[in-house]
Amino acid sequence: MADIGSNIQVAANFLNNGNLVAIPTETVYGLAANAFNKEAVSQIYAVKNRPQINPLILHANSFERLEDWGIYLPKNAIKLAEKFSPGPITFVVPKSAKIPYMVTAGHESVAIRIPKHPLTLELLKIIDFPVAAPSANPSGYISPTSAQHVNEQIGSKINYILDGGNCQVGLESTILSFVEPKVKLLRLGGLAIEEIEAVIGEKLDINTLQNNENPLAPGMLSRHYAPKTKLIIGNPLEFIHTANVNNIGVISFNQTYKQMPIVNQICLASDNNLQTAAANLYAAMRYLDNLNLEFIIAEKFPEIGLGLAINDRLKRASIS
Ligand code: TXA
Ligand code: MG
Repeated sequence: MADIGSNIQVAANFLNNGNLVAIPTETVYGLAANAFNKEAVSQIYAVKNRPQINPLILHANSFERLEDWGIYLPKNAIKLAEKFSPGPITFVVPKSAKIPYMVTAGHESVAIRIPKHPLTLELLKIIDFPVAAPSANPSGYISPTSAQHVNEQIGSKINYILDGGNCQVGLESTILSFVEPKVKLLRLGGLAIEEIEAVIGEKLDINTLQNNENPLAPGMLSRHYAPKTKLIIGNPLEFIHTANVNNIGVISFNQTYKQMPIVNQICLASDNNLQTAAANLYAAMRYLDNLNLEFIIAEKFPEIGLGLAINDRLKRASIS
């Protein structure tokens, strides 16, 4: 198992030596490597069993720092960056020659993000390179929102997990592309699209996410973020007369179902707040997945704010 600690110097030493370190962010834990070290970056793909065609996100402590490495925010991204970075938003922009194609999976664009976590921002400050970091889970499974989650799944394959507590946002970052004149949404995530639309003054198209197989983001539409247990999106009350009701798990927004066994239910937000629900979602999926249930029923969430991203993740988890 990996060492777990909160020593950024230890984490920096491992990264400097070409090793992988799991890092906390406000969204989910990342699996970080020196982005300039191709051998280290290739280890990310190996540890996650990630398809080589799926590009990684570059993380740095500031956009000024990224400019040192030849990466610039386009004009129409600057207001968003000022308002929401550090935070759960990722910008896909033209890549610079310094960034290995191993990071971008051969693309001429690169995804960049400034994560909002004090420990990781400190770590990124004391190293001389950006880190490439996907979520620190085996490809296809639920993303980790605690150091423990990381350790359970890939702890035997990495040296160090920088423990920064539970992730506050709990969903991966919202990804926007700026490589064409019109801003394009590539992934729903921890920053609500209404907030983004208010800044850019135009509507984002979420239908293209669901209808198109997006070649730039493989895995985005297929089964992803998924527990091993079958997951169904629906109304739990339709299942109360099922013979095996004791073997059914429930994920609900803000209620418990007295008609069903309480022990297999997770109410994500008794405060009725979608942000609370998002922060608790992945831990709930993992918990229920470990109970060896026959299936899990998740309510459909309200189609606003983070509810859109929660529904997106539930939908991907439900694909069999
Ligand atoms: O919140 C997050 O974004 C987390 C934390 C660790 O920062 N990271 C994360 O990384 O979710 P990952 O690898 O699980 O998802 C990155 C997504 C992939 O679906 C990938 O296709 C997309 O970003 N992506 C990366 N570079 C891209 C590019 N150049 N063009 C289009 N999509 C890109
Ligand atoms: Mg991921």
